[in-house]
Amino acid sequence: MAIGKLYGVGVGPGDPELVTIKAARIVKEADIIFAPQSKKGRASVALKIVQGIIDEREEAPEILQPLFPMTEDAQTLDKSWDEAAEQLYEKLSKGLDAVFVTLGDPTIFSTFSYVSKRLQKKGVEVVLVPGIAAMTACSTTAGIQLTEQDDILVVVPQVDERLSKILPYVDTVVAMKTSRHLDLLEKCINEDPREKEIVSVQNCTMPDENVVQGFVKNKKYFSTSIIKLKK
Ligand SMILES: C[S@@+](CC[C@H](N)C(=O)[O-])C[C@H]1O[C@@H](n2cnc3c(N)ncnc32)[C@H](O)[C@@H]1O
Repeated sequence: MAIGKLYGVGVGPGDPELVTIKAARIVKEADIIFAPQSKKGRASVALKIVQGIIDEREEAPEILQPLFPMTEDAQTLDKSWDEAAEQLYEKLSKGLDAVFVTLGDPTIFSTFSYVSKRLQKKGVEVVLVPGIAAMTACSTTAGIQLTEQDDILVVVPQVDERLSKILPYVDTVVAMKTSRHLDLLEKCINEDPREKEIVSVQNCTMPDENVVQGFVKNKKYFSTSIIKLKK
């Protein structure tokens, strides 16, 4: 029997209207929906975004919701990705197609990549479906042009010495996961003498979206800051 395909489907930043037509069709047709949880009993945001599409199906898909703990411990993460890959392979080897729903786009800081690499090694065909990335949703919500003319855009998931080194050459910084590194980020940005425009967007395109001028101190996970450094 042929092995099923694994789809890595980006479902956008939160608003179900921002799910692409292609993503919606694939979710409608899938045998298995794979939507990892960060805490037991807390459905993934990606799953919630496509729940309306799933509810409209005549035949319900099987929904797998393994636990991907929010930790930076490499061993714990490796173990959860190994287990997820095994769980998916068991289904795919029966000829079933699986859809891994992922917030935003599957090629930007998505746990999908760690699982898909493991499955590709086993000969599974992986199909990627782009989604609207959080950073472009945040820039449109904030009404900020990310790049113009010869601007250099840098996207960071954390702050370390590399950002200070390249910052003098950068026109726009998109800082993701800011709840984890806000103090360092603020320090690094403040050290640049240029005039700046800073906007932070939390829970972008979700019902409780919050747009703040400057950095935002609360520790919400879905926070992105856009820093424009004036020429
Ligand atoms: C693991 S990354 C996922 C990125 C996602 N794959 C993408 O394409 O945007 C999680 C980070 O994305 C950003 N993010 C995701 N959704 C967001 C939203 N709705 N509003 C603001 N930031 C968001 C936050 O910086 C969050 O910490």
